[in-house]
Amino acid sequence: MKTILVTGGLGYIGSHTVVELQNSGFDVVIIDNLSNTTIEVLDRITSITGIKPRFEEIDLKDKEAVMHFFKYYKVDGVIHFAASKAVGESVQEPLKYYENNIATLTYVLKEMIASDVSNFIFSSSCTVYGQADELPITESAPTKEAESPYGATKKMGEVIIRDTTKATNLQAIALRYFNPIGAHESAKIGELPLGIPQNLVPFVVQTAAGIRKELSIFGDDYPTPDGTAIRDYIHVVDLAKAHISALNRLLNGENKAKCEYFNIGTGKGSSVLEIVNAFEKATGKKVNYKIAPRREGDIISAYADTSLANKELGWKAELSLETSLASSWKWQESL
Ligand code: WQD
Repeated sequence: MKTILVTGGLGYIGSHTVVELQNSGFDVVIIDNLSNTTIEVLDRITSITGIKPRFEEIDLKDKEAVMHFFKYYKVDGVIHFAASKAVGESVQEPLKYYENNIATLTYVLKEMIASDVSNFIFSSSCTVYGQADELPITESAPTKEAESPYGATKKMGEVIIRDTTKATNLQAIALRYFNPIGAHESAKIGELPLGIPQNLVPFVVQTAAGIRKELSIFGDDYPTPDGTAIRDYIHVVDLAKAHISALNRLLNGENKAKCEYFNIGTGKGSSVLEIVNAFEKATGKKVNYKIAPRREGDIISAYADTSLANKELGWKAELSLETSLASSWKWQESL
């Protein structure tokens, strides 16, 4: 049985990936510093799969702790989620983001190499493309100047990993996520609402639940069919499954380069208004909204060309937008 370290494994995408790893027969060890989640998620994962993952409460900024972890645990691969991810916060506190997202990445890579662990899956983001010149976006689209320190840490992270694979035995796959939404069908894990939601779907859900008075739609004057911005919203379970496909590619030595990149999206773009309408249709709930000014740094449209991941990873998003939005609502009702 292969053992996989999942950093940030009690987080939103991390916890869903731990479930899919266990479903696929992997032994999982989680590192999390609980800065953006709760220890309760560990029991919820266990209640879904019946297997309690091993857990170490470690802050990856503590490089001694990272070193001891790799001396104590023998792992066959690492899936690295642990990072701060709030775009707006990163503009206010860039050094927090560079320390927490970049310094920690170097500590994990350094100890992996010292312990001869060579399989690494990196949580990257379509944000590296900025506003792509061509849609849908392929992996060969140029990466652009980051719109935020958060985006910059994803771009820098990819460069650090690429250069490390050139100089060591490390082999890596960077998964460039589009917009993760939804929750596990059990409604036992999902996106924990800590503070005012920055992302669209959690805000829509909390508005429908009456927690927020109304949704502000940031701009309806974009050059899109209905004037609102377009994104590629992918169910977090489909996203989690892509990590298993990528991990198996490395474990089975099927990778065609030491560092590979895959867009993980549905390949379909949806506007903000389409999301609101689809949510109302899927749940029967009303979403009050008003049109507000554009949000600084937002791009007009992004959706993935997923043919490379479909072909090379043998992975494809299966769950519909309605299923994703209904699962978000079911998760909200469970809170
Ligand atoms: C989606 C659309 C907003 C909130 C960011 C990061 C990305 C990833 C996902 C971390 C946009 C509009 C939003 C609201 C709105 N983050 N919106 N009212 O900005 O595409 O991506 O989050 O991994 O890396 O860049 O996602 O959900 O914030 O916004 O109208 O209250 O919804 O303007 O058009 P985004 P989002």
